[in-house]
Amino acid sequence: MDSIPNIVILTGAGVSAESGIDTFRDGGGLWEQHRVEDVATPEAFARDPDLVLRFYDMRRAAIQTKAPNAAHDALARLDAVWPGELLIVTQNVDDLHERAGAKRLIHMHGEHLSAWCTACDARSRWTGPLGDRPACPSCGAPGTLRPDIVWFGEMPYRMDAIYHALNRADLFVSIGTSGAVYPAAGFVREARAAGARTIELNMEPSQGSHWFDEARHGPATALVPTWVEEILAASTRSA
Ligand code: APR
Repeated sequence: MDSIPNIVILTGAGVSAESGIDTFRDGGGLWEQHRVEDVATPEAFARDPDLVLRFYDMRRAAIQTKAPNAAHDALARLDAVWPGELLIVTQNVDDLHERAGAKRLIHMHGEHLSAWCTACDARSRWTGPLGDRPACPSCGAPGTLRPDIVWFGEMPYRMDAIYHALNRADLFVSIGTSGAVYPAAGFVREARAAGARTIELNMEPSQGSHWFDEARHGPATALVPTWVEEILAASTRSA
């Protein structure tokens, strides 16, 4: 590689699976325990806010008992040393990428550890429950905080920045995602249109596997550190 390639990495629930965080669509996954329509839509929140707040309170508490795994650590290491442009776009709402040290990171589906005030629009870091309807730390309004999670039917965050990075990508790597949900499932095609090389690292072929130049199947904690070492070795050779 003559110049340092620009890298875009998309991660999904599979990158956090080995940290003990349930994926959505694997056997026994989250959506098998709850109908999406009952917990992850604005209509569900309007219909039964207590059910939705309880679901997310449970998830918010659960992720705080988990730790980053070797895949998160390897991506954070790459982020720290990569001299080219690099962006990790995660669909995940846990904070394991940050806790591993990743900096160049976008949470396109929001974050468990953030509360969004429907009165003043402020986002606040939040680690406790929302079910007891606490007041907004910014405007003081009572009971206006909702999970800062992008629900089905809502617009994912930072899409301009994501498409800007995809259009400049030389390498697009998709890790631990089923390719079941758009717009993330379409990123591989954006990257290909920009001329990027595309690689999928996943436990099994995703729904979009055929769009990738290369696919490696297995656990993220094995695949990701190996790939990171390869890409760093290649950049050292060409330096
Ligand atoms: N290592 C690598 N891949 C894994 C592992 C693992 N240890 N465990 C599971 N996987 C793979 C599965 O094979 C599957 O392809 O991770 C993928 C997880 O897919 P989903 O459960 O559909 O999760 P994700 O793709 O992140 O879902 C996308 O859907 O419900 C919405 O907003 C939610 O962000 C989520 C989006």
